[in-house]
Amino acid sequence: MRDPYFKRVWELMRHIRAMALYHTYSQLWDRKFERLEQIATRGTVFPEELSPVSSAHANLTYEYGPSPRPVVQWLLDALKVDFSEYSFVDIGSGRGRVLLTAAGRPFKRVHGVEFCSNLHEEASSNIAGYPGEHLKCRDVKSILCDALDYDVPEGNCVLYFFNPFDVQLVERVVTKFLDSADRNGSRIIVIYYNSKVSKLLAGDNRLAFRPLSKRCRWRLKLLSPHPVQVYERVVGEA
Ligand SMILES: C[S@@+](CC[C@H](N)C(=O)[O-])C[C@H]1O[C@@H](n2cnc3c(N)ncnc32)[C@H](O)[C@@H]1O
Repeated sequence: MRDPYFKRVWELMRHIRAMALYHTYSQLWDRKFERLEQIATRGTVFPEELSPVSSAHANLTYEYGPSPRPVVQWLLDALKVDFSEYSFVDIGSGRGRVLLTAAGRPFKRVHGVEFCSNLHEEASSNIAGYPGEHLKCRDVKSILCDALDYDVPEGNCVLYFFNPFDVQLVERVVTKFLDSADRNGSRIIVIYYNSKVSKLLAGDNRLAFRPLSKRCRWRLKLLSPHPVQVYERVVGEA
C-alpha cells in the first residue's frame, strides 16, 4: 500500500480491531476465569510505573499487559509436542498469566522471567494461590531477573515472548538459547506474540518458521488481536 494516507487509515483500523478483540477477551473470558481461580493478572502497567531490578535494558521495555488466554491455549495446542520433554519459559512474564496457562500442560518446568519486582511478587502470589487441580506441571515459578541474565535451562524449550521489549533484545535472548542448544543438541521453539518484524534473526539460518496447521493459522488470523509467529531451531544445520 503506497499511498501514505491509506496506509495510516489501514494501520488505524488494524489497531482498533486489535484493541476491540483484546478487550473482548479480557472482559468476557479472562475476567471470568480469574474470578473463579482467584488470581489477578489483568490491567496495564506503563513503563514509567515499572520498577525494574538492576538492568541495562530498562529503557528498552514496553508496557505490561497480559496475553489473552485463549490465544495462548490455541498456540500451545498447535505445538503438537510431548510437553513432558520441554521446559516452557515466558520472557517478561509479568503477573504470571501465561505461566499458569502453560502449567495446565504437563511441561517439565514452567519459568517466568520478570525484571520488575512488584510484578514478580504478584506472579509468585498468583502461582501460590492457584487451584492445584488445574496444574499439570508442578515446577512453576517466576524468577526475578533481567531477560539476558536468565540461565538457559537444560533440554528442549518453548520460549514465549509477548512483545516485552525492543526486537534487538528479543533477538539477543533467542540467540543465547540457540547457542546453548547448539552445544547440547536440544530443540527450541519460539512463540513471538505481537511481533513487529517480518522475521526474527533474518540472517541466522538456525531459526526457521514452524508450520502451523491450517485450522490454527485461520483461527489466529481471524480471532487473534495481534499477529503471532512461531519458530523452531533448525536441527542439524547449526
Ligand atoms: C507485555 S508484558 C507480557 C506479560 C506476559 N508475558 C503475558 O504475556 O501475559 C511484558 C513484560 O516484560 C517485562 N520485561 C520488560 N523488559 C524486561 C527485561 N529486560 N527482563 C525481564 N522482563 C522484562 C515487563 O516488566 C512486562 O511485565
